[in-house]
Amino acid sequence: MSGFFDGERLTAARAKVAEYPQPRSAILPLLHMVQGELGYVPRDAMREIADLIGITPAEVLGTGSFYTMFKFEKMGRHLVSVCGGISCMLMGSHDLYRRMLDHFGVGSLGTTDDGEFSFELVECAAACGGAPAVQVDYLFFENVGADDGVELLEDIRRLGLDTVYAERGSMTAPLSPGAEEALAAGPAPKTAHPRAEAEATD
Ligand code: FES
Repeated sequence: MSGFFDGERLTAARAKVAEYPQPRSAILPLLHMVQGELGYVPRDAMREIADLIGITPAEVLGTGSFYTMFKFEKMGRHLVSVCGGISCMLMGSHDLYRRMLDHFGVGSLGTTDDGEFSFELVECAAACGGAPAVQVDYLFFENVGADDGVELLEDIRRLGLDTVYAERGSMTAPLSPGAEEALAAGPAPKTAHPRAEAEATD
């Protein structure tokens, strides 16, 4: 086999497949391997995954396309995801999206000529309190007004995503003291309902 999965990648892919009782269960990790390296999953790689786990390329696409974070077309250096969910739409995200596309001269799902940005309109990005929400490479920027989106992206192009995110990104607050330990400990043990306790002593 030659293509994406050759040499070390093929060894790693076979090891991943061997972790599962059913080879087809390795489909998502294999898709991740490809996308993590190339930024998208080309058709040839889909065929290779199909061969590795004994399913058809159509099944690889059918499963992978359920997850919107997998891309099957070449993407720009930065993926700009504008939320088109109801809260963001009511707060003007469609107008924001349109202005971005017009400014950069691309259509929806398009990529700028310089390969810098690809655009997509997504369903609720789970940041409704900060509508309209925009993600750039899945980093959040909230309360982005219709007039602010173009400036945000031009700043990212000029200064770099890390710099702009550090200044204007959201959800950067550290966890509150003790939260990490509480998360690591998992849910608190269940206690009996008071009525069950009362019935037990009757
Ligand atoms: S509707 Fe946009 S984050 Fe929920």
